[in-house]
Amino acid sequence: MTIPTLKIGGFEWENALLLAPMEGITDLPFRIICKHMGADLVYTEFISSEAIIRDVDKSISKMIIDDSERPAAVQIFGARIEAMTEAAKICEDHGADIIDINYGCWVKKVVNNNSGAAYLKDINRMAETTRAVAEAVSVPVTVKTRLGWDDENIVIVEATKLLNETGAQALTVHCRTRNMGMKGHAEWSWIPHIKEVAKMPIILNGDVTTPIEAKKAFDTTGCDAVMIGRAAVGNPFLFRDVRNYLDNGADAEIITPETRIEYCKKHLNLALQYRGFPRGMYEFRKHYSGYLKGLYYGANVRQELVEMETKEEIFKKLDEYLEFLNNRPPKPSYSPAETDTDSQ
Ligand SMILES: Cc1cc2nc3c(=O)[nH]c(=O)nc-3n(C[C@H](O)[C@H](O)[C@H](O)COP(=O)(O)O)c2cc1C
Repeated sequence: MTIPTLKIGGFEWENALLLAPMEGITDLPFRIICKHMGADLVYTEFISSEAIIRDVDKSISKMIIDDSERPAAVQIFGARIEAMTEAAKICEDHGADIIDINYGCWVKKVVNNNSGAAYLKDINRMAETTRAVAEAVSVPVTVKTRLGWDDENIVIVEATKLLNETGAQALTVHCRTRNMGMKGHAEWSWIPHIKEVAKMPIILNGDVTTPIEAKKAFDTTGCDAVMIGRAAVGNPFLFRDVRNYLDNGADAEIITPETRIEYCKKHLNLALQYRGFPRGMYEFRKHYSGYLKGLYYGANVRQELVEMETKEEIFKKLDEYLEFLNNRPPKPSYSPAETDTDSQ
């Protein structure tokens, strides 16, 4: 069996694992952590083309890429071709290795503005915009979209045929319709149909949450790469586990509390380094629950951590918590009290 290869411009990966763009999540520190864990290509969260061309500080800061995460893709969205092409040029000037266009965001605010998944209602507009952006920049341009607007209007195969002729260098398909939002499950069975007509690499996205599922995605659909989103939140270790499983058939490593706390601290340090104090500390708060997930007493500790105001306090709490976890007596395998209750 040939090893799936993803080629975008001068970049090439085998069994490629991509970190999905996620608003409010895939900021620079999180991307660095995922890259460190084995993600081949990482994406910024989507950035409004209109905000980019108006030079809105917050939007410009989202496109900053650190050398340690390269290559990285900057994702843009918008409704006006002129704004999209201008924004793409600005992203290129700021060092984007790849520019990805969002035609998949389902939220009303975006769609009502003719952006994101709204393009699924007019795939000619999708193709026209993609062509204009691809012509405007010299870095590779890629596209991320969904299957169609709803079950009655699946357009992805036709859209792929049109995108083939635009200069787009890869297509990511979140295998849901716009109307599904994030509900139901991703329909990977569309990927082979898309592959049949595609002249560019096809990246499968949606509901890949374990190494076994990632392998299944490659083996059963013929996709060229797999993109992982939600399952990596609080669990960047997933990239390492999937990589080990795909390359060596190795079982996932047990993620010890030490590792969880170590990466929680690393991530917070990166957040402070890149976002400054106190902003980095506040922005990091959403990640505690992921790092402490499944740990004894984790929810309570998280609550304490989000109320803390200094890095020193947070690190001290994390160290104490780790010591507590390490000294905790093992849970008894037999509890008379439980047995009594069970028998009633
Ligand atoms: C919190 C959140 C934010 C997201 N933001 C974006 C975004 O900015 N751009 C985008 O293309 N998709 C975005 N998505 C969709 C993901 O990239 C991905 O397509 C979706 O989560 C399905 O993949 P998964 O099942 O691996 O999570 C977002 C998803 C979530 C959960």
